[in-house]
Amino acid sequence: MAFEYILTDAQVAPYVALIRLNRPKELNALNLQLMGEIRDALKAFDEDPAVRAIVITGNERAFAAGADIKQMAGKSAIDMLQIDQFSTWDAIRKTRKPIIAAVSGFALGGGCELCMLCDMIVASETAQFGQPEINIGVMPGAGGTQRLTRAVGKALAMEMVLSGRFISAEEARAAGLINKVVPVELYLDEAVKLASRVAEKSPIAVQLAKESVLKAFDMPLQEALYFERKNFYMLFATEDQKEGMEAFIEKRKAEFKGR
Ligand code: CAA
Repeated sequence: MAFEYILTDAQVAPYVALIRLNRPKELNALNLQLMGEIRDALKAFDEDPAVRAIVITGNERAFAAGADIKQMAGKSAIDMLQIDQFSTWDAIRKTRKPIIAAVSGFALGGGCELCMLCDMIVASETAQFGQPEINIGVMPGAGGTQRLTRAVGKALAMEMVLSGRFISAEEARAAGLINKVVPVELYLDEAVKLASRVAEKSPIAVQLAKESVLKAFDMPLQEALYFERKNFYMLFATEDQKEGMEAFIEKRKAEFKGR
């Protein structure tokens, strides 16, 4: 895969792929091409049986400082409608394999929204999360008013979205936005470690479990419970379920094959 604004590694650890946003001078501002490249890389990894979990990262200074303001500044509402940039985000949301964001430095605007599109977030102590779109006369457009509110609750989400205040990694962890805060030299390793832990499990069980957790955001409780139940029953059609349960009974480590 040849990309201009991202670097990829299909095997940063066994069964774990890495996508690194690589527009450092612009603090990884998310222009249309960069988002398209993330979508294409994720699609390829989603289809690759040698990949079971994906880590997305930036660099120490910035995960991403938001959508590319310079690319958007002169656009009209009709331009924005026709460009339809968020269809790329919808495609990213459809990735079946788990995605872990490894965040250091700025995760702002679309950068914060991109990590919220991931399934888990590991951050360095230097990470800052924010939705500062209000400072430039707009508002979040890639899920910031919705995913942030569901993650941290109305009071903090309202404050971040209306005042543009950034929160630290520790505040983000305490508020439930992210999974873990570690020293800056460890954030990528920790994210890869977490991805590796997930990648050891049955990939079919992981996929159906991710899909079921996400239904908590999309469906009323009772329907989501039925959805969960069907996915649970479906796993009894897999060899991995037999292997997992037999290995437990025989007191050995399970060998999952993704079948
Ligand atoms: N878009 C385009 N360029 C950006 C950018 C962005 N979102 N964020 C930073 N850059 C560029 C700067 O213009 C600058 O480029 P030049 O060197 O060519 O001038 C370079 O990156 C470095 O940035 P700064 O000099 O500003 O660095 P700093 O350390 O002084 O400040 C910052 C860092 C606080 C993150 C500041 O850059 C900033 O406020 N960035 C914008 C953050 C923002 O408003 N994000 C929301 C964007 S809108 C959005 O995301 C909509 C949506 O919901 C999808």
